[in-house]
Amino acid sequence: MQIKELLEQKPEGQQVTIKGWVRTKRGQATIAFININDGSTINNIQAVAEEGKIDQEILKKVTTGACVAIKGALVASAGSGQAVEVIADSIEIYGTADETFPMQPKKHSMEFLREKAHLRFRTNTFGAIFRIRHALAFAVHKYYNDNGFFYLHTPIITASDAEGAGEMFRVSTFEPNKAPKNEAGEVDFSQDFFGRETSLTVSGQLEGELGAMALSKIYTFGPTFRAENSNTTRHLAEFWMIEPEVAFYELEDNMNLAEDFVKYVINYALENCVDDLNFLEKRLLEEEKSKPQNERSELSLLEKLRFVVENSFERLTYTEAIDILLKSKANQKKQFQFPVKWGIDLQSEHERYLVEKHFKKPVILTNYPKEIKAFYMKQDEDGKTVRAMDVLFPGIGEIIGGSQREDDYEKLVTRVKEVGIDPENIWWYLDTRKFGSAPHAGFGLGFERLVLFVTGMGNIRDVIPFPRTPKNAEF
Ligand code: 4AD
Ligand code: MG
Repeated sequence: MQIKELLEQKPEGQQVTIKGWVRTKRGQATIAFININDGSTINNIQAVAEEGKIDQEILKKVTTGACVAIKGALVASAGSGQAVEVIADSIEIYGTADETFPMQPKKHSMEFLREKAHLRFRTNTFGAIFRIRHALAFAVHKYYNDNGFFYLHTPIITASDAEGAGEMFRVSTFEPNKAPKNEAGEVDFSQDFFGRETSLTVSGQLEGELGAMALSKIYTFGPTFRAENSNTTRHLAEFWMIEPEVAFYELEDNMNLAEDFVKYVINYALENCVDDLNFLEKRLLEEEKSKPQNERSELSLLEKLRFVVENSFERLTYTEAIDILLKSKANQKKQFQFPVKWGIDLQSEHERYLVEKHFKKPVILTNYPKEIKAFYMKQDEDGKTVRAMDVLFPGIGEIIGGSQREDDYEKLVTRVKEVGIDPENIWWYLDTRKFGSAPHAGFGLGFERLVLFVTGMGNIRDVIPFPRTPKNAEF
């Protein structure tokens, strides 16, 4: 039985076995209290080792970090803090851990834990984060399955740059210095593994659209890769993205789906991750105490999550948002680092002003200037904007980016050429607009940004088991 189950048993002196890692041991020679965790829950189970029953030599090896199996009787606990405990009859040591084990029971900085990412799973904080991450991933699949979507596996290796940002990691079997060259002296990719230039995908959207043009409602959920040199608390070079794509959806349907979907998964965590969220909420309150009064957040973690689930997101156009920013006190006092004017790509400071200061709730911005958005977005009648939508969250900024797609063949080809893509390279994508084209829309949710929001953590490196960021791929 896992510890999570054991803790829920009625204590009647029945024989049980606990297997797990020692978190702490305290007590004297006559009696020792051992706290064991196996990761099934944030809660430890306490084992009591009484003198005479357990060999002192074995008990010496029961140290923080060691892995043990303890057999004994499950009884009601005499101490406070736990309902049940195990009176040990025998202890088997699977693996010892000496005092150099880095996860000793004291406060560690997040930076320290990142350097020990292979062992940080054994802390309360990371246990909680990765159980919540799992629950959110499960909720994503449940939501789409329950709503008639099909999970489509789009490729990780691709020959097209879906976002057109040129931030791709190359996939090649060439030896770096021995790549064959053509007559013009350029690398000859026709001799490479796939017979062409290939990279890791930045998005499954283009292939997702092909699926939606037949299955109507699909979603992808896979790793995506971006070689952008952004060393921020919101960017990873390898992150997971959920991308639904729906035939016959227009922009408004897309917004409704995005809002309903994120509320569902956050609510799922609220209902299914109670112990872990309570732990993270307390942790955050402690952290807040060290901040100056004016920087502390008004809502606790759980209040913030409930607030998002219970209130409707504010919807407005990019043009309306620019007006609000222009009229803002922050702008008049020249507090924005990046000047505001129509046409700019909104910076994080602008997004956070709108979400955290002005509306104080999640915001969906739509109809951005076409110049700052990807080629595939449906053009508005005014010729200036496209049917884009970004969902902005407090403390995070952009959590979702999406749009209605251009379904007119001629308009799409013209735009593709304008942005410098050779239509030949994405002939298969353009074909969907030639044969039975349909209005359709979709979006991408950055999974780690969602986990960041739900756990209340401050750095995206702490919500993915093995973060990939510039100059960092150790574990
Ligand atoms: O806005 P983006 O670039 O949109 C797309 O990739 C579209 N193809 C999605 C679609 O319409 N199907 O990325 C979508 C989301 C962002 O809103 C953000 O949450 C996340 O992906 N994201 C990142 N998360 C972590 N690290 C990065 N470097 C990220 N870049 C984007
Ligand atoms: Mg975006």
